[in-house]
Amino acid sequence: MKIINFGSLNIDNVYNVREFVRPGQTIHARDYHVAAGGKGLNQSIAAARAGAQVLHAGMIGSGGTFLTDILQEAGVDTSQVRTLDAPSGHTVIEVNAEGQNRIIVYGGTNQMLTDTYIDTVLAQGMPGDVTLLQNETNLIATIITKSHEKGMLVAFNPSPMPEDLTAVPLDLVDYFIVNELEAAQLVGMQPDAPYETILDRLAVEYPHATVIMTLGHNGVLYSQKETRLSHPIFKVTAVDTTAAGDTFCGYFLAAVCRNTSVETALREASAASAITVSRPSAAPSIPLYAEVQQFLMDSHCS
Ligand SMILES: Nc1ncnc2c1ncn2[C@@H]1O[C@H](COP(=O)(O)OP(=O)(O)O)[C@@H](O)[C@H]1O
Ligand SMILES: [Mg+2]
Repeated sequence: MKIINFGSLNIDNVYNVREFVRPGQTIHARDYHVAAGGKGLNQSIAAARAGAQVLHAGMIGSGGTFLTDILQEAGVDTSQVRTLDAPSGHTVIEVNAEGQNRIIVYGGTNQMLTDTYIDTVLAQGMPGDVTLLQNETNLIATIITKSHEKGMLVAFNPSPMPEDLTAVPLDLVDYFIVNELEAAQLVGMQPDAPYETILDRLAVEYPHATVIMTLGHNGVLYSQKETRLSHPIFKVTAVDTTAAGDTFCGYFLAAVCRNTSVETALREASAASAITVSRPSAAPSIPLYAEVQQFLMDSHCS
């Protein structure tokens, strides 16, 4: 069982500034660095580090080769990633002295998937394999429909949440992997509604789907038919929560592919994302499976 991830690949341009730039103003950045980003990239890396067989599907453009290099180093199959003569997906991230950020994202080649490309990639999939997708690429409705027709399981992390979901065949989704805000939006509820109420509504609206609803420092809730489970966080000193949700998603699906129990999947994914939170940066902070196992043994002893 493998994961085919139709995932975004972004060049993150990170500018450290004293204060955010204001309209009409020009400011000097104090520092600048480039990092590999995109929810798709993070999730592929997490699933591969967790030991899953992962094929990443997506497009890169100018300057994007380092993104596939990083995926390959993590053990992800990048044979289906295409290079186009167009700008790569990228972000401009301002981080101010308080550590808050403001982000502009430009989809670039992430928004250039085609029907033919999707067919070519899905020819590599078998019934029972998992198609994973977020909302940073185009044609998500097509990817969901075609994957379902092939008998593949569809795991959807609707992030960032689309303004209009009516064109997306959500009834074909097998796994919703959502944070509390995305979950509330999916069912048209206020974000401050009780978590259980939001989850109940999701379970009623999508009775065939498994729902994994992550709650930041409040842990995670799980629903599948009559089964309800939860897992608290592993307490760590939070350094940088970027990629916490992506780590959870990749680790959880990797556990699904290994056919482990849901309890184990939630435990391993919670531990992996706690480790990610305890480290700076995004993709580089995602732990290897051996690190997660060691962390779980240590937390068991303490
Ligand atoms: N401060 C934290 N300490 C430990 N684990 C955390 C912390 N914040 C998040 N996590 C873990 O990461 C998971 C995903 O985080 P969450 O914030 O829900 O995702 P997203 O990044 O998509 O908003 C949580 O379910 C939890 O297991
Ligand atoms: Mg969150």
